[in-house]
This record gives sequence, structure tokens and C-alpha cells, in this order.
Amino acid sequence: MKSRANIVLICATLLIVIGFFIFDQSSQPQTHEGADPKNPKFVAMGKTLYAKHCAACHGKNLEGQTPNWRQPMPDGTFPAPPHDASGHTWHHPDAMLFKVIKYSRTQSSDKSFKSTMPAFKKILSDEEIWSVLSYIKSTWPDAIQQRHDTLNQQYRPAQ
Ligand code: HEC
Repeated sequence: MKSRANIVLICATLLIVIGFFIFDQSSQPQTHEGADPKNPKFVAMGKTLYAKHCAACHGKNLEGQTPNWRQPMPDGTFPAPPHDASGHTWHHPDAMLFKVIKYSRTQSSDKSFKSTMPAFKKILSDEEIWSVLSYIKSTWPDAIQQRHDTLNQQYRPAQ
């Protein structure tokens, strides 16, 4: 009789341990590597960060600094382009967009390129940058999002 009670006790303890383990896994904060435009929480985080860090130049509604964003300014720099579907953001794969935001193009290989966009590496974490990209991507029509997914799959970074 006693050993039966022991078995019940062991089983109950095991169940509690397994249950706790599963609960613990699901309550872990998620760390994101990559854009996740279908995740409402992540998109909301990116939207707040966009309003704070990007909207002043790229426009409150991602419309860009000016409708003439393709024309260089008198000093030779370019205005901030739109990030909505009318711009060219979706012509670039995630990995490239991430780099532009983290390091800015002033640190790219083309030293002659002058950009007024700051690098965000000391201001935003990698996860925060991905959340902003998720927000930007979430505003594009489905067809454009799908074309961008295909572009991401085809993209092979230069070695
Ligand atoms: C001080 C103004 C300024 C701020 C703030 C700024 N940008 Fe920019 N951004 C620019 C300008 C100007 C360009 C065009 C020149 C270039 O490509 O560097 C640009 C270009 C870009 C590009 C490459 C062009 C494209 O559409 O693919 C991306 C991506 C981008 N910005 C994202 C962001 C994000 C995200 C933020 C906020 C975290 C941000 N920028 C904040 C001025 C700004």
C-alpha cells in the first residue's frame, strides 16, 4: 500500500515539474532575429520606436521627407525616402535594410556617398531594429510583402 502511495507521489511531482517546465518555456520573452510583420505585439513595439526615432525624417505616415525625394538637395545629399509601398524600401532585402539602420550608409563601402541618416547601433538594440522593420513591412499591401519575402529568400549576401 505504501509503495503505491509513493508511486502516486512521484508521478504527481513529475507532472508538476514537467508542467512548470512547459509554463516557463512559454513565458520566456521572445527574442526576434528577423522581421515579423504578422506579430501584432512586435509590430506595435516597432511603431512606437518609428514614431520616436524615424518619423521626423521619413514622415509620420512613412510618406518620406518630401514628394521629390528622388531629387538631391543643394548640398548633394538625398532627402529621406518614404518607407510605404511607394518608396524603394521593399526593393531591398531585410539584411540590407537592417545594416543601413544599424550602421547607416556613411559607413558603407561607398565612401563618396553622403548621408544625413545617423547610425542607430548605439540607440536601438538589434531586436528593436527588427521591430521597426516589422512595422514598416506590416504597412505594405500583402502582394508587396510576398514579393519582399521572395526577395529575402533569393538574397545571398556578398562573401
Ligand atoms: C536625420 C534624418 C533621418 C532619420 C532620423 C532616419 N533616417 Fe533613414 N534615411 C535618411 C536619409 C536622408 C536617407 C537617404 C540616404 C541614405 O540612404 O542614407 C535614409 C535612408 C534610409 C533607408 C534606406 C533607404 C530605403 O528606403 O531602403 C532606410 C531603410 C532607413 N533610412 C530607415 C530608417 C529608420 C528605420 C529610421 C529610424 C530608426 C531612420 N531611417 C531614421 C534620414 C533619416
